[in-house]
Amino acid sequence: MLRAPGCLLRTSVAPAAALAAALLSSLARCSLLEPRDPVASSLSPYFGTKTRYEDVNPVLLSGPEAPWRDPELLEGTCTPVQLVALIRHGTRYPTVKQIRKLRQLHGLLQARGSRDGGASSTGSRDLGAALADWPLWYADWMDGQLVEKGRQDMRQLALRLASLFPALFSRENYGRLRLITSSKHRCMDSSAAFLQGLWQHYHPGLPPPDVADMEFGPPTVNDKLMRFFDHCEKFLTEVEKNATALYHVEAFKTGPEMQNILKKVAATLQVPVNDLNADLIQVAFFTCSFDLAIKGVKSPWCDVFDIDDAKVLEYLNDLKQYWKRGYGYTINSRSSCTLFQDIFQHLDKAVEQKQRSQPISSPVILQFGHAETLLPLLSLMGYFKDKEPLTAYNYKKQMHRKFRSGLIVPYASNLIFVLYHCENAKTPKEQFRVQMLLNEKVLPLAYSQETVSFYEDLKNHYKDILQSCQTSEECELARANSTSDEL
Ligand SMILES: *[C@@H]1O[C@H](CO)[C@@H](O)[C@H](O)[C@H]1NC(C)=O
Ligand SMILES: *[C@@H]1O[C@H](CO)[C@@H](O)[C@H](O)[C@H]1NC(C)=O
Repeated sequence: MLRAPGCLLRTSVAPAAALAAALLSSLARCSLLEPRDPVASSLSPYFGTKTRYEDVNPVLLSGPEAPWRDPELLEGTCTPVQLVALIRHGTRYPTVKQIRKLRQLHGLLQARGSRDGGASSTGSRDLGAALADWPLWYADWMDGQLVEKGRQDMRQLALRLASLFPALFSRENYGRLRLITSSKHRCMDSSAAFLQGLWQHYHPGLPPPDVADMEFGPPTVNDKLMRFFDHCEKFLTEVEKNATALYHVEAFKTGPEMQNILKKVAATLQVPVNDLNADLIQVAFFTCSFDLAIKGVKSPWCDVFDIDDAKVLEYLNDLKQYWKRGYGYTINSRSSCTLFQDIFQHLDKAVEQKQRSQPISSPVILQFGHAETLLPLLSLMGYFKDKEPLTAYNYKKQMHRKFRSGLIVPYASNLIFVLYHCENAKTPKEQFRVQMLLNEKVLPLAYSQETVSFYEDLKNHYKDILQSCQTSEECELARANSTSDEL
């Protein structure tokens, strides 16, 4: 590992208070975190959906393959009989849209460099010049693909889950694993990397073969399940393709918090403020996160922002998730009913088989999707719901909001349902229990805060969704009655 360049005290054009804060945080970083994670940025907690998994689960920094067991997980007389996991793909490249914006920004800085011959008017270290020289290593072909770090995210997750639930991931169950994936290459690649991680679990020390050569068939592509949002007419019309649905996101981009950052960045980089906009600022911020997550380097792009800027930019990202994937519109979460029901069909079947003393036909179900798959489902279940909506105008009020996408859906995030069969149960109802894990930590029930539920109670709590939410109806446009059937 490289020594952290971030530990050199940097002179910057930041105001004194910010500089002091940066100094303090860089001291703290250097003394406490440096040996483990030399490139962690003080901005890392604010990267939203571009957050590294280990920033949410810092225990992994010391040993990403070492099993870590949440003490709340059931053990003893209750044995896990089935696991249904929804997994977001691992770390990925920026999308082509982001890459083009970054190139635009980079071009702006380079043009500026040639204009004044690269000499800084202030004589101090010129961040704009440093950025103009910093390599732009992202090319269009990378377009959102899984990176090597992303494969590692998946292999390591596989190893940890296999050690945490050894009976479920036993060799004899290997042929009964079921993998389902979104058709996007980053998800298909994630499922393949996960399988390679499992292979390592069964054959430690041996290099894993190509997935095609494993005894195991390739994962099944199912976009109706993993990309339900692409198949929901009402969502597409009312939200996805609706120019006004993200009103609050657009309003925040031109609001006072973002305008302050725009002015500050324009001054720091010595470019005309009119050449900048919120999208370019956001891509600069993301580039700090991409350089960290993909390249493992602390990029000068991180030096453009202080923590207060980062909090504003995190809010911008969360606003978009909120209105497009979360509580902003009911259809966002209702469009995931099919996926929710699918999970319970697996659990039902396992309960039934167990009751008949039959072997569980699918002890492990692994479904690979997107942040856009997980957020609607968690919203459907009532998680991370704030009392008031996130809007363009309540940034300050929402400082302590629950809906922080970086904590919920970082790269490789996962929501796992564990079904247990319990011996010595006094009643049939007490035989089957469920725990949920979000990012490997027990997720208390949204309605009771308890860490475990009887399966029957859980189903009962969600009976509206299980019984009365039919995608065909939910996703039908209100004005309906057109004869066209898009799908
Ligand atoms: C677009 O979104 C706005 C705001 O939610 C809503 O009032 C309008 O009806 C939507 N338009 C369509 C075509 O659904
Ligand atoms: C479609 O139109 C028919 C007849 O005009 C009506 O009975 C039916 O309820 C309508 N369906 C919907 C979904 O609006």
